[in-house]
Amino acid sequence: MTDMLHRRVAKSIAVTALVALAATGCAREAAAPGTTKDGGVVHVVCGATEDWCAATTKKFTETSGLKADFVRLSSGEALARIKAGKGNAEFDVWYGGPADGFSAANEGGFLEPYVSPNAAKIPAKYKDANGAWTGVYVGALGFCSNTKLLQEKGMEVPKSWADLLNPKLAKDIGIAHPSTSGTAYTALWTQVQLAGGSEDKALDYMRKLHPNVLQYTKSGAAPAQMTARGEVAVGVIFSHDCIATKEAGFPGLEVSFPSEGTGYETGGVALIQGAKNPVSGKKFVDWALTKEAQEVGPTAKAYQFPTNPDAKVSDKVVDLAGITMVDYDAVAAGKAKIALTKRFDAEVAQAPKS
Ligand code: F6P
Repeated sequence: MTDMLHRRVAKSIAVTALVALAATGCAREAAAPGTTKDGGVVHVVCGATEDWCAATTKKFTETSGLKADFVRLSSGEALARIKAGKGNAEFDVWYGGPADGFSAANEGGFLEPYVSPNAAKIPAKYKDANGAWTGVYVGALGFCSNTKLLQEKGMEVPKSWADLLNPKLAKDIGIAHPSTSGTAYTALWTQVQLAGGSEDKALDYMRKLHPNVLQYTKSGAAPAQMTARGEVAVGVIFSHDCIATKEAGFPGLEVSFPSEGTGYETGGVALIQGAKNPVSGKKFVDWALTKEAQEVGPTAKAYQFPTNPDAKVSDKVVDLAGITMVDYDAVAAGKAKIALTKRFDAEVAQAPKS
């Protein structure tokens, strides 16, 4: 073959390759809209109860035809796992758990803002304006008492945060640790609010409470079981978790609320930054905000208040209007979360080991 022929053949191969490349590229370009890379599955990190997470993912699959799986993690643990997955996201969606954690994740750039069309239904106080997270339920913090144990001590159910400091309750209170649990962080931030914004005073209260705490659990709802079994007289937990435990066969439990005011959570849903299944993830977020999705809770003994005004409210749900609440700003709470929980670790008690 002459040099000239060589060059012609080489040129023609190069042109063919370029055409082929361009064609593939074009094909990719053309396919992009509507067919974003997505496996038709949603991996959910779920902060609600195990039963509710299971019922929710199952119902989502039935409704959408998309697969969904979940890992149940407490708020602080979920945040740590999402953070560890940055750049190679393990989950597509975070569902359930107080918005404080979502706000902390948003601060770190771990969430993908998504304003679902269905978010229009959700009141502004229950969602982030930029769509970093949207509220799916609301729950109030309360005290869960074992009335028999309290009677034996000659005590009434606690009616104030001050009542919990009574030395008669030494090692008789169960509460989770705020580094792992969103429930316990809600309790800690509630003290900050009651102390006019002073984190020092809030930690002071927690230090005074410490001698009465038998154990700091990892998960927020765990003290409900401890109280039911009589290991402690009082659990500081979300009121709905006490109601669910009572219904599960422990009628001796009683819910009360602190007169000074209590904190509350807005349970969130959010798309995770770098989600590998963003199309399905968005569908999950859309669905989680519907009336249908928000009526799943009570079928799994989860009695939080739904944020969608069209969703039926179970008669087991606490009437939030009847409780004195602190002014709870989940965004401010989230911004303070990492530093404040570190202070709790150092100044009150170390986080429980796995
Ligand atoms: O049990 C359900 C629940 O109380 C939710 O309402 C709440 O968002 C979540 O648990 C908090 O869990 P944790 O305290 O373990 O982070």
